[in-house]
Amino acid sequence: MNVNSQNLSSTSKPRIFNNPERFIEGWYWVIASKNLRVGEVKAVKVLGRELAIYRGKNKMAVIFDAYCPHMGAHLAKGKVQGNELRCFFHHWQFDEQGFCVDIPCLNHPVSIKLKTWPTAEKYGMIWVWTGEVPKQPPPFILELENKECDVVFGDYFLINCHPNVVMINPIDAQHFNTVHQVASAIHFEKQEINQNAIVFNNTTPNTVNSFLFRLIRPLGKNLTHNICYWYGSTNIVTVGTDFFQVHIMFALRLLEGGKSEGRVMLITKKRQGILGWLFNRVLLWLTKVVGRHFIEDDIQIFQTIQFDLKTPIKADQSVMQFVNHLERQKPLMLKTWLLARSQNVEIKELREKWKDSKSND
Ligand code: FES
Ligand SMILES: [Fe+2]
Repeated sequence: MNVNSQNLSSTSKPRIFNNPERFIEGWYWVIASKNLRVGEVKAVKVLGRELAIYRGKNKMAVIFDAYCPHMGAHLAKGKVQGNELRCFFHHWQFDEQGFCVDIPCLNHPVSIKLKTWPTAEKYGMIWVWTGEVPKQPPPFILELENKECDVVFGDYFLINCHPNVVMINPIDAQHFNTVHQVASAIHFEKQEINQNAIVFNNTTPNTVNSFLFRLIRPLGKNLTHNICYWYGSTNIVTVGTDFFQVHIMFALRLLEGGKSEGRVMLITKKRQGILGWLFNRVLLWLTKVVGRHFIEDDIQIFQTIQFDLKTPIKADQSVMQFVNHLERQKPLMLKTWLLARSQNVEIKELREKWKDSKSND
């Protein structure tokens, strides 16, 4: 059965999904919290935009646009002074809101403000909001909201396709059979949490006859498998049984040329005492090993795919629901982080301009 008519018109090309120049306004990972100590300043490039990030005496991470508004020196070459940052070149100093507060050769600084971006720290990672005021929280695990967590980081990785395309993997029902040889049929129920977050849930009886699935059978009759997406580029895969679950976060960012860079984070709730600590270490290590086993097969596909869902069938329904969810969000342009307008608006504006110039003749 063809599901074009139900979910996504075959004639409408997605304006956000898999667009190599667009991403959704939201929170994106920057660097691990432990890699930015108090008094340190670093250069980072996020979604094509050059930034400087520093941590002041008050331990807050601050993100500025990278280039000094005086003469363009890179601010990551500067020095953190208390909670402020001093440019290396002529020592102009900026406070954490970006206001220029000191110019050594003047009695009063000139009235300028550097562009700053909202930051947050969650799961041992620093995140940046790519707009003015955050409308949602940084990506979090719904089951562990407001709970303390233990986190282990996987390696930084590069992938040869758009983050949106990588994201669909855990809701691509057919590939569990064909790529991962998981025999049972998978059906997801979707639930939109807010404008920027959507969850796909699947619960099936644990009747899979492999060693791993037999091993976890005493922990609950059902296998639960849900995937929560934030801003179309970060997801959290939760797998387990009724009573015991593990969480893997894939945090991706779009790179130029429609490629992705990302981090994997393995997360579980904090457990008390030395035994709890030890248990979590073993659990997160096991999650990493099993996760890597699954991802290895997928990676081959995403390094070479030219994504184009030309012939959707019913089994692709979740993928199409994900595409539709993305299309309703706010698109920004790579590098500039400005609002991406639809082609129709641009054409209309061009026409208006043309009309105006005619009337001026
Ligand atoms: S370029 Fe930064 S103070 Fe001159
Ligand atoms: Fe997979």
